[in-house]
Amino acid sequence: MSELNKIALEILNNGKGILAADESTGTMSKRLECVNVSSTPKNRLLFRETLFSSSSMRECIGGVILYDETIKQTSSKKNKIPDLILSSGSYPGIKVDTGAKILAGSPNEKITEGLDGLRERLKEYFDLGAKFTKWRGVYNISENYPSKLSIQSNAHALARYSALVQECNMVPIVEPEVLMDGDHTAKDCYQKTSEVIKKCFDELISHKVDLKGIILKPNMILAGNNSKDKISGEEVAKLTLECLKNSVPSEVPGIAFLSGGQSEIEATENLNLINKINDTGFIMSYSYGRALQQSALKFWSKNIEDIEGTQKVFNHRAKMNTLAAQGKWSKEIESK
Ligand code: 13P
Repeated sequence: MSELNKIALEILNNGKGILAADESTGTMSKRLECVNVSSTPKNRLLFRETLFSSSSMRECIGGVILYDETIKQTSSKKNKIPDLILSSGSYPGIKVDTGAKILAGSPNEKITEGLDGLRERLKEYFDLGAKFTKWRGVYNISENYPSKLSIQSNAHALARYSALVQECNMVPIVEPEVLMDGDHTAKDCYQKTSEVIKKCFDELISHKVDLKGIILKPNMILAGNNSKDKISGEEVAKLTLECLKNSVPSEVPGIAFLSGGQSEIEATENLNLINKINDTGFIMSYSYGRALQQSALKFWSKNIEDIEGTQKVFNHRAKMNTLAAQGKWSKEIESK
């Protein structure tokens, strides 16, 4: 077993998932301002450090994705943040793309940037302790989108990124996110997501990426948030599994879904239904940002000194998702 395959499996084994705490400073500022906390480096660190030192880290969280600011910060107890995460029993990871910009030639779409100088930045992150990385490609969905140009160019960037990351001995998380915004049906989401993922794997293979040493981070197959044709959780699970079975090569060790704007409970319930019928051979877990942090952030914003209370809220969410990653979650357990 290769070292990268081993790390990918350790991150996702036994129902463990990933905490996506890699919001850029701009996004994190919005999240904090929403709960009336001022967005200073100290406050951003305080909230994140509270999560990273929670007891659920050891049993539930196999990896934490950090942002550039956080990976270079030192905790209140003077530990480097990657060391704090390692000592909590989890792997530190880092978001390495520099964001999605307007795609020249198709101004309603985005292309993710960050390839220039990436090899050098990766070396720096590796030396800081990162074991894995993330790059997110983002796709609008409607009748004409995503365009072939967007599908092609984002897949190419994801593949170039992945090859560089593996060269630097880290596991790349490959995240092609077909957005939930719009009035499209789940069938549209299924078709476009399949096309997007297949193209990503064509490019990953062309760029000689070892598929056993990556983690795929896709969206679930959902109807758009303005769609009149909502589908049940059971249908979400069936369509998501069918899509991934048909578009992901069997070598890939694990899949960790993004939450993408689903509520905390929805994201847990859908993951649980997916795992109840998971017949794909892939580990199916979570790499949630909002769906792991929302309640904890809300609680913390009103009780900024109450570290234990905040951790209790986070631990519950992490445990519920780890149960869901094994198909063992239920509404009764949720409300106990
Ligand atoms: P959400 O789970 O909030 O969608 O965030 C996951 C993520 O990492 C997006 O890039």
